[in-house]
Amino acid sequence: MTPVVTTVAEVRAAVDAARRAGKTVGLVPTMGALHAGHASLIRAAAAGSGFVVVSVFVNPTQFGPTEDFARYPRTLDADRLLCADAGAHLVFAPPVAEMYPERSVTFVEVTELDRELDGPARPGHFRGVCTVVLKLFHVVRPDAAHFGAKDFQQARIVRQMVRDLNVPVDVRVEPTVREADGLAMSSRNRYLTPAERAVAPGIHRALQNIAARARAGEADVSVLESELAAELAAIPGARVDYARVLDADLLRPLGRLDRPAVAAVAVFLGTTRLIDNLVI
Ligand code: PAF
Repeated sequence: MTPVVTTVAEVRAAVDAARRAGKTVGLVPTMGALHAGHASLIRAAAAGSGFVVVSVFVNPTQFGPTEDFARYPRTLDADRLLCADAGAHLVFAPPVAEMYPERSVTFVEVTELDRELDGPARPGHFRGVCTVVLKLFHVVRPDAAHFGAKDFQQARIVRQMVRDLNVPVDVRVEPTVREADGLAMSSRNRYLTPAERAVAPGIHRALQNIAARARAGEADVSVLESELAAELAAIPGARVDYARVLDADLLRPLGRLDRPAVAAVAVFLGTTRLIDNLVI
């Protein structure tokens, strides 16, 4: 099992020792319940850095009042085994009071890029993500930090924050890891009932079909968005939260597909909300 520390002082001491030994430092920020997608982030970090820290912290500030903070899976022992297998050197698993001491009243907000997708769908979510990620960057002081492309908007927003606030961290975005049937790996997949799990690959198939329609010449974004929404809605038991095709850089609406775009979706299967995307 990868060793675990729980305080800012301990993780800083370990990172300082690694730096004194001439190592560069990679950080993989996670909320735990690790899976093969996280393992690939950790392997990427280990390929680029001599000392890899995985943070495991279910961050309360990025959950809305009706979201799954309380039931979010907490599996630290299994996470530490996966970390060891994937090549991490240290797990940082702080309690909430260590990351947010009493009377913490400072938050980080990236504007503009949160106008669509999970911005309006999950008010306050990215403020919570940016705040905790910037805090982790200050605590660990990594050379590089690794994020998954499944959270496309999150990765874009973190990159912007790092650029705008001159944070000396190299943000790396690693490809989405999928199950054999195409379902994007997610800690939330474990909430799915067998029936929901059986139909969940339909989300990725709908994205692939829309990408194929775009490749075949359909450039009207409103047509692509309605076809995408209709295909998702046809998945048994699915409720579409959003199905959008946006400018991949600005994350703003597009009329025609005349520049790189991202098709991004959020779909409820029962009470489980899954997101996925494809750059088209
Ligand atoms: O992607 C996640 O797991 C979380 O949003 C992150 C980046 C660890 C921040 O809590």
